[in-house]
Formats: sequence, structure tokens, C-alpha cells
Amino acid sequence: MSRIAYVNGRYLPHGDAAVHIEDRGYQFADGIYEVVAVAGGQFVDEIGHLQRLDRSLLELEMASPMARPAMQFVMREVVRRNKVRNGTLYMQISRGVAPRDHAFPTRPTRPGTVMTAKSLSQDRHRIQVENGVAVVTMPDIRWARCDIKTIALLPNCLAKQAAREAGSFEALFVDNAGMVTEGSSTNAWIIDQEGNLITRPASNEILNGITRLALRQLVADEGLTLVERAFDVAELKTAREVFITSSSSFVMPVVQVDDAVIGNGRPGSRTLRLREIYEDYMGGASRDAAATG
Ligand code: PDD
Repeated sequence: MSRIAYVNGRYLPHGDAAVHIEDRGYQFADGIYEVVAVAGGQFVDEIGHLQRLDRSLLELEMASPMARPAMQFVMREVVRRNKVRNGTLYMQISRGVAPRDHAFPTRPTRPGTVMTAKSLSQDRHRIQVENGVAVVTMPDIRWARCDIKTIALLPNCLAKQAAREAGSFEALFVDNAGMVTEGSSTNAWIIDQEGNLITRPASNEILNGITRLALRQLVADEGLTLVERAFDVAELKTAREVFITSSSSFVMPVVQVDDAVIGNGRPGSRTLRLREIYEDYMGGASRDAAATG
């Protein structure tokens, strides 16, 4: 079956879907995006993702290409046309097409909107969850507004590539003070010897992950103690359990950080329980735990 992409008002086969060479997303990475998980044909945290999308647009003074109900209609249409039951929806909005000039276009531009969806097997992470994954740490060389989900991902790509070359699943960024910020496409969590769940608070230094927000809500319901504070690399390496979260890897156990083995080298029991809780949530009736207000 050929995949269908939504591009600026049209549904096209992937091979025919294209944007203008002067699209500011293409030239300046002047755009934002979201990745939304689809489970059992339903979006996971649709409202949370749309709220973050609106926030990213606002922070960059970009216009929304359409009202929320229209956006939700297109999201569903892209999933439907691609027959996705389990997988992801990718959505990207750029400032639009204009003659190349760093400053914003003076004439109003139509935002460039692209959506794609792909099917992914639900147990694609089985081996990684069973065995846990390795991560590497590296300096966080990104900008001061990591809270905006922009398509400017070059430092993230370089970090992920370095992780791949090291045979690792993910790279965790470390700031100038030696504290872990987040992964190249994930948020980072540790569980300390007392069983406290620790993750860095939301700020301009990390992307406030929608999975992070949903899990934050779910652990509160489980009665686990969540502490939002930064932790350094030494604490990371000596943690009882380590895991990372994202809309594409959900809750992923980490068993190695650089050369340090975490715990007994097997995924931690609390992490596996959190993954289970999150999977139940994804498959459940109520999937908007990350939404605010
Ligand atoms: N990445 N931090 C960064 C830098 C990210 O790019 C992501 C998401 C996350 C986790 O956010 P969420 O839980 O909302 O997926 C944290 C997506 C999946 C990506 O770029 O493919």
C-alpha cells in the first residue's frame, strides 16, 4: 500500500509530496513539529500534543495553519488513509514560503503544513525492553530554548549518530554544570536507592515531554514519589534504575551509561512496572493525562 502524506491542503502519495525550495522550514529550520503515538487506532495524548504545538507556535510567533478541529480532522484523515492502527503521526508546521531573508517575511505567509503517519509493530521494543538499552553521555551543545519543539535538530542528530556509532540506543545531554538535561529525543529519569523517581523539572533547558507529563500524572495515581530536580552524571551512573521516555519509545529501561552498568545490568522492576502502567494507559479508554486545563 502506498503511503499518503498531507501537504498544504492536499493528500498525496509520498513520492509526490514536496515543499517549495524557499520554505523557511527547509532553509532556516523555521518550523515546529510533533510526534503523536497511535495505539489501537487512537491518538495517545492528542490534546497534550496539540497544546504543546500551540505553545511552540506562540513562542515562535507563528500563525496556526488551521483551527484545532480542522487540525484534528486532518490528523485522523492521515491516520485513516494510511490504515495505521499502531504507529506514529508526524506533523510539522513551518513559517511558510518567502524569499530568503533571516528576518520574518513582512507579507503574511501561509504556514507550511505536512503530516505523515506510519505503522509500527506494537511489540517493536520487545527485545530492548527485555534486555534494557545502553546510552552514552555527551555535552549539551544545543540552544537556550530547548522547550520549543522546533525542527532545528542538528545537535540532536549528531548526538544520536554518536550514540549509534557507540552501539548505544540514545545519547543523554549533559549541561555545563555536569547535570543531565535530557536525551537527544527522549526525557531522562532515574530511580534512587530509596525508590524516589527523579526527573529534571520543565524549563527552557529541556523539552517538556508529553510522555513525561502523562507518566507524571500516572505515577501520582500509583502513589510513587516523584521528585523533579536535576541530577548529575555520577548520580545517573549509580542510580538504582534508569529509564528514558518519549512518544516513540514510551518507557525504555536503561542498563548501561557509558561504561557504567546500572544496578545488576537488567531492567529495573520499577521501570518495567512503569512501562506496563504506560502501556495500559496507551491502550485504555482515557488517554489525555498530559493535557492541562
Ligand atoms: N522526540 N526530548 C526531546 C529532545 C525530544 O525530541 C523528545 C521527543 C522528547 C520526548 O517528548 P515526547 O514524550 O513528547 O515524545 C524529549 C520525538 C519523539 C522525536 O523527535 O521523534
